Amino acid sequence: MGRILPVRLGVNLDHVATVRQARKTTEPSPVQAALLAELGGADQITIHLREDRRHIQDDDLELMRRVTQLPINQEMGVTEEMLGIALRIHPNVACLVPEKRVEVTTEGGLDVVGNRERVARAMERLHAAGIAVSLFIDPDPAQVRIAAELGAEAIELHTGEYANSRDAEQATQLHRLEAAAVLGCDLGLEVHAGHGLTYQNVSRVASIPQIVELNIGHSIIARALYVGLRQAVAEMRTLLAEARNEARLNSLSDK
Ligand code: PXP
Repeated sequence: MGRILPVRLGVNLDHVATVRQARKTTEPSPVQAALLAELGGADQITIHLREDRRHIQDDDLELMRRVTQLPINQEMGVTEEMLGIALRIHPNVACLVPEKRVEVTTEGGLDVVGNRERVARAMERLHAAGIAVSLFIDPDPAQVRIAAELGAEAIELHTGEYANSRDAEQATQLHRLEAAAVLGCDLGLEVHAGHGLTYQNVSRVASIPQIVELNIGHSIIARALYVGLRQAVAEMRTLLAEARNEARLNSLSDK
């Protein structure tokens, strides 16, 4: 591993739309939120147009594409409908995720080993349109290897199990993430991570040098209720920069 790069912050705005959809009204607006996230230092806007449209709506995605200057990472299930939308909207990155109607949120990584052909076909169409592909997978070596064989630009490691565990189990989950990040980087993939990350648990993940992007939603939107979105994003940015600096210092003292 060479120089330790800064870690980018993708702010997931799904839950701004969740609040709006609770009343099916027009506020709060994820598009206005994107502008505030940008002022707070977000590097990217991440949104998930789900099959059941429970939060983000089609209009949000279209408007977001026109209004924000930031790159858009569209999380999407591998379905014909979502592929059609991505090919029309042309996000900077399509992050392929599993999607089951009943789950509260995305509960596991996409099984690219078991769905290799379907994922390959979707990727071919996205790549032909010039859209980079990130595969949201569990930190499992077999999944990482297939993601590389499929020719993805990036993998996003699912941090849910790390986030949901404590003590010794959390250390084990962190090691899984580290090992998957090292393998992904060695295989030429850009390595991202996300899901369930909070102000309390993000630092150890942000310290993994191979991880260059984190996508964080719920915790930032929750904090924004108290301190405002711009500040909530800025506070997360500060935590990421501190964790990264510490990783840099540690790597120097190891030499
Ligand atoms: N990355 C992916 C692929 C996701 O599906 C989600 C949840 O939508 C996130 C990141 C953000 O997760 P959280 O809202 O728990 O921060």
